[in-house]
Amino acid sequence: MTMTPDPLDAPAIRWGILGAGGIAHKMADAITNYTASEVVAIGSRDLAKAQAFADETGISKAYGSYEELVAADDIDAIYVATPHSHHRDHALLAIEAGKHVLVEKAFTQNTEQAREVLAAAEAKGVYVQEAMWARYLPHYRAIRDLIRSGAIGDVIEVQADHGQPIAHIPRMAQPELAGGALLDLGVYPISFAHFMLGAPDEVHALGSLTDAGVDAQVAMTWVVGGRPIANLTTTMLAKTPCRATISGTEGRIEIDSVFYNPTTWRVIRENYVDGVHSLDVEEHDDRVPNGFQYEAAALARNVADGRAESDLLPWSEILAVMEIMDDVRATIGVVYPNEV
Ligand SMILES: NC(=O)c1ccc[n+]([C@@H]2O[C@H](COP(=O)([O-])OP(=O)(O)OC[C@H]3O[C@@H](n4cnc5c(N)ncnc54)[C@H](OP(=O)(O)O)[C@@H]3O)[C@@H](O)[C@H]2O)c1
Repeated sequence: MTMTPDPLDAPAIRWGILGAGGIAHKMADAITNYTASEVVAIGSRDLAKAQAFADETGISKAYGSYEELVAADDIDAIYVATPHSHHRDHALLAIEAGKHVLVEKAFTQNTEQAREVLAAAEAKGVYVQEAMWARYLPHYRAIRDLIRSGAIGDVIEVQADHGQPIAHIPRMAQPELAGGALLDLGVYPISFAHFMLGAPDEVHALGSLTDAGVDAQVAMTWVVGGRPIANLTTTMLAKTPCRATISGTEGRIEIDSVFYNPTTWRVIRENYVDGVHSLDVEEHDDRVPNGFQYEAAALARNVADGRAESDLLPWSEILAVMEIMDDVRATIGVVYPNEV
């Protein structure tokens, strides 16, 4: 099994955080307390908000505009922590200023925007990574290695769900912020299945929409080689178990709730020989505090190695996941206001 290196051993870089919202707090904690790197500045559209964030988290500089933040000479990488609707513009702002960028999931609102960001990064020669933090957690890599080594035989079925009762939150509710369950929550099961299985041949989807026209709930079945291999669900109306299971001809892997967090998981092999049932269970515990430190450390390592993209989530796969979400939205009828 490939071991994930300790985030504390990654090179130290200087971060700026763009957007002083909810998730920015978790990233500030991860970088400050679980990597060798430092968050040197926070940028907000409101200086008082930036200052309050800086005071609370111990960051030394606060800027009252995103433009001032990305222009700062003492920053190596920008973490874009704004709603999906704004990822394209804010990533482009940072790229134009010559900064490496970590862009929150979903990477952008649609594939066209994602292509724009990646083309700009290529032209400028900067590194861009999607903040799909689960990809960088040790259990994702370990489980993919196990599957590839044939530890559970041929994969027959993948199941993953992600539901949170957060339909009332503005970034989920508003079409203008590219809201809905799919881009915010459904991206986890999709990215998980893509990592474990590769690209599907077909994606079948059903969804229900809110009165505002964003998706409240989506169910997907992925078809590979004519077989319905993955069943993935997401909703913003209820807390669901948030578990994942990969079942094969010779065993299964169960990832406990929350499957995309640092968590516990097991490999199970069941045998029936001459009417006798035997169970072989191998338990794993990959729980650590926070968890964002792995993606932050990956960026620092890849930048130091002179890479343009991450091997755990290459640009081609960022685009592939965005394309699946575009297709699902087209099937269930979710169109954002600036796409009409
Ligand atoms: N990785 C994870 O576990 C995780 C969890 C939750 C969310 N996320 C992702 O992180 C991103 C931000 O989520 P969040 O929960 O932090 O969102 P949020 O608190 O609603 O907003 C984040 C910040 O975006 C900035 N912003 C810029 N333009 C805005 C606009 N027009 N309307 C509202 N805010 C705007 C605001 O910062 P200023 O006011 O300071 O300028 C705001 O505080 C989303 O892409 C989401 O999917 C990831």
